[in-house]
Amino acid sequence: MSDNSFLVLFLGPVRDYLADEDVSEILVNGPSAVYVERNGRLEKTPAVFPNETSLRAAATNIAKSVGRLLDEANPRLDARLPDGSRVHAVIPPLSRVGTVVAIRKFKKDALSIDKLLSFGSVSEDGVKLLRAMVRLHRNLIVSGATSSGKTSVLNVLSSFIPAHERILVLEDASELQLQQEHVLPFETRKADKFGKGEVTIRDLLHSALRLRPDRIVVGEIRGGEALDLLQALNTGHAGSMSTIHANSPLDCLRRLETCALLSGIDIPLAALRAQVASAVQGVVHTARLSDGSRKIVAVSEVLPLENGDYRVSDLIRWRTDRIAPDGAVQGAFELVGRPTFSDAAALAGLDLPC
Ligand SMILES: Nc1ncnc2c1ncn2[C@@H]1O[C@H](COP(=O)(O)OP(=O)(O)OP(=O)(O)O)[C@@H](O)[C@H]1O
Ligand SMILES: [Mg+2]
Repeated sequence: MSDNSFLVLFLGPVRDYLADEDVSEILVNGPSAVYVERNGRLEKTPAVFPNETSLRAAATNIAKSVGRLLDEANPRLDARLPDGSRVHAVIPPLSRVGTVVAIRKFKKDALSIDKLLSFGSVSEDGVKLLRAMVRLHRNLIVSGATSSGKTSVLNVLSSFIPAHERILVLEDASELQLQQEHVLPFETRKADKFGKGEVTIRDLLHSALRLRPDRIVVGEIRGGEALDLLQALNTGHAGSMSTIHANSPLDCLRRLETCALLSGIDIPLAALRAQVASAVQGVVHTARLSDGSRKIVAVSEVLPLENGDYRVSDLIRWRTDRIAPDGAVQGAFELVGRPTFSDAAALAGLDLPC
C-alpha cells in the first residue's frame, strides 16, 4: 500500500498535508498547533483538531489499528503504519500540551543519487569517491544528526553495490529500498504485551552471519549491536554499511565505541578502539543546514589509531561561504585530501576525482 488513506481515516484535519508530496513530516503539538516540514523547513499550519479528546481518540485508533495500545499504562507509541509511514505519539500527562503526534511520511521514491546531485546535496567528485568506496568494499558508516538525511544517503550508497552480490538488510522499521535483485530484508520485532518474543538487531545479525552475506546493511546503530557489527566487519564482511547519530566523523567513531560498550560485554577500551578503527574505513557525514537543505558535508577515511586516539582524514568537505539575505546557505564542496585507495581504485578501473 502506498497511499495514506489509512491515516486520513483518523487524521481528517491534516488530510491535505498527508496528500501533499512536498510535505515530509506532520507534527501535531496538541489539538491546536500543527506544523509540517516542507522542503526541509518547518511551517505552522492553520490546521486544528476540534479538541484534545478527538485528537487523543485519533492517536488511540492509530495504535489499535496496528495492534498496539496507547493508554495510561503505555503512554508512548512507536509505530509503523501499513503504508510505511512512521508515527510516534506521546499522551498527557507526559506531554504537557495535549497529545503529541509526529508522522514521518513514507516516500514512495527513495532519493536517488541523481536527485542528491540535483539538490546540491553532494558534488560529482563526492559521488565518484562514494561509488569507489562502496565498490572497493570499504565498510562505511553514515553519520549525522536526527533527520539530517542518513537513511537516504545509506539507500543511495547501497545502490552502488553490484547486482551480483548477496545483500542482507537489517532494520528496526523497514525504510531502505534496495533495488538489486539479491536482497534479503529483515525487520526486528518488539516484545508483545507479556514482554515476550522480542527480536533485536543483535539477533538478526547473528542470523545474518549464518546466511552467507556478501554485504550487511544495518539501518541504524543505536546500542550494543555495535559490538556485534564491529566483530562481523573485522572478521570479513567487507563492504557493509550502517548509520549512526553523531556530530562529526570523529564523533561517529566515539559514538560507535559508546554503543559497543552498551553491549554489556567486557572489553578493554584499547582493544575496543582498535576494533572500531580497523572495522570502519569510511564515514559519510550528513547535515541539515540552516536553510533546511541537507548535504553530505564530509566524506572521511578512518586512519589507524595514534596514541590510542581516533584519526580521520577528510577527503571532501562542504565549506559555507555566506548566508544570503533570503537565508540560503551558499558555499562549495572542497576536495581536501588524497584517498588511501587511489591505487586500488585505479586497478579496479574506478574513476577518482584526485
Ligand atoms: N539530500 C536531501 N535533500 C532533501 N531532502 C532530503 C535529503 N535527504 C533526506 N531528505 C528528506 O529528509 C527527511 C529525513 O531523511 P532521512 O530519513 O534520510 O534522515 P535520517 O537522518 O535518517 O533521520 P532519522 O534521524 O530520523 O533516522 C526525509 O523526509 C527525506 O526524504
Ligand atoms: Mg534514519
